[in-house]
Amino acid sequence: MEQYVIKGGNPLVGEVEIGGAKNAALAILSAAVMTDETVTIENVPNVRDTNVLLNAIEEIGARVERLDAHTVRINGSFIRDFNVDNEFIRKIRASYYLIGALLGKYKRAEVALPGGCNIGGRPIDLHMKGFRALGAEVDIKYGLVRAYAEKLTGTHIYLDKVSVGATINIMMAASMAEGKTIIENAAKEPHVVDVANFLNSMGANIKGAGTDVIRIKGVEKLHRTEYSIIPDQIEAGTFMVAAAATRGDVLIKNVIPKHLEAISVKLMEIGATVEEFDDAIRVTSDHRLGHTQIKTLPYPGFPTDMQPQIATLLALSDGTSIVTESIFENRFKYVDELSRMGASIKVEGGNVAIIEGVEGFTGAAISAPDLRAGAALVVAALVAEGYSTVDCIHYIERGYECFEDKLAALGGYIEKIPVDDERAVQKFKLKVG
Ligand code: UD1
Repeated sequence: MEQYVIKGGNPLVGEVEIGGAKNAALAILSAAVMTDETVTIENVPNVRDTNVLLNAIEEIGARVERLDAHTVRINGSFIRDFNVDNEFIRKIRASYYLIGALLGKYKRAEVALPGGCNIGGRPIDLHMKGFRALGAEVDIKYGLVRAYAEKLTGTHIYLDKVSVGATINIMMAASMAEGKTIIENAAKEPHVVDVANFLNSMGANIKGAGTDVIRIKGVEKLHRTEYSIIPDQIEAGTFMVAAAATRGDVLIKNVIPKHLEAISVKLMEIGATVEEFDDAIRVTSDHRLGHTQIKTLPYPGFPTDMQPQIATLLALSDGTSIVTESIFENRFKYVDELSRMGASIKVEGGNVAIIEGVEGFTGAAISAPDLRAGAALVVAALVAEGYSTVDCIHYIERGYECFEDKLAALGGYIEKIPVDDERAVQKFKLKVG
């Protein structure tokens, strides 16, 4: 088990390269098994969640070849097993994409019920409703979601709630259904569009991804493709906030600035400088920022996956800010840890945080409660006076590749060391002074 040891107070300065989008990759890697031909996928982030998924895909018989750290070649023609279950896959949320992929191609799938970050109840009723509307029988037994169909038939589906996962999953299965499917009230996130583009590059016929209504004409077969995944909006957003919080100057490269607009607008509103380039964004700040109100919403609204990071920044800003979480029920678990560093945050009704900005944080021994909150606590520690340790970093490693290396290259004092290794802590302290 490892932890981060961090000394705060150094502004982050320099350039950082953003990797491929984790949440797009998880769907695209799953969808890659929907053809019997070979698919090459580039810009795959080398993070725990994608590796767990690739192992699961391999376990059911697909050939997975890693050409380099970020390029994967997959051939799904050898799949003979439709049961996806192991102790690791049960921990990731996106295992559910294998239901849509296998159901679409083989008309059957048995996949361990998804886990993922504990940020509130995370039902999959909308996914199941969509599969049933396409003609599948779906149940949950022995911890598995089981879906079977004689054939899938195109249909008209209205999603009661905007769901990224359900939109993508239904889109995948419907790609290989007979006839036409319409998904209304679809999610519009950049990764929904990326998955649709990927499926279309394999011969699917999907129109309207990125709008509320997605139209899919089912095809019998999908074919080989080579595809590069879009940059990760949330990794980029995290570095944007880290630059602003540490009063630094960071050029964040390999991004699509349009995908970051909700974050850029809020950073500018509270006084940071944000400059957009074709495929980069620069965030600078040299003073204490101001307060604002933020409500998380489906894209193009402010992303829930950036809520802990921006709340951390607002906890250091001047005045009272209000952050409302409207997507998940239990996404303020990091507030207790942040309070131990000196933040003043009151959570009301479980989903509204009232933040009284403080002048600074002080270092503490803290624990990452989930992926994005873990990243937010690292940002807090990079600002805090003195030393912090952050444990349970396996959560952070689910979605951030070489997080500590990228932060250290920007001048952050951060190192990954074994948990309970007091000598390593002392060595770090001697090194950074
Ligand atoms: C995905 C992302 C996650 C992000 C979230 C919202 C992945 C692997 N994860 O999660 O990082 O925070 O989108 O942008 O891509 N809901 C239902 N029934 C369902 C499905 C969802 O009620 O069948 C609810 C959820 O509880 C939540 C809301 O709909 O309140 C949105 O969830 P959804 O967009 O589906 O999130 P995920 O796909 O789980």
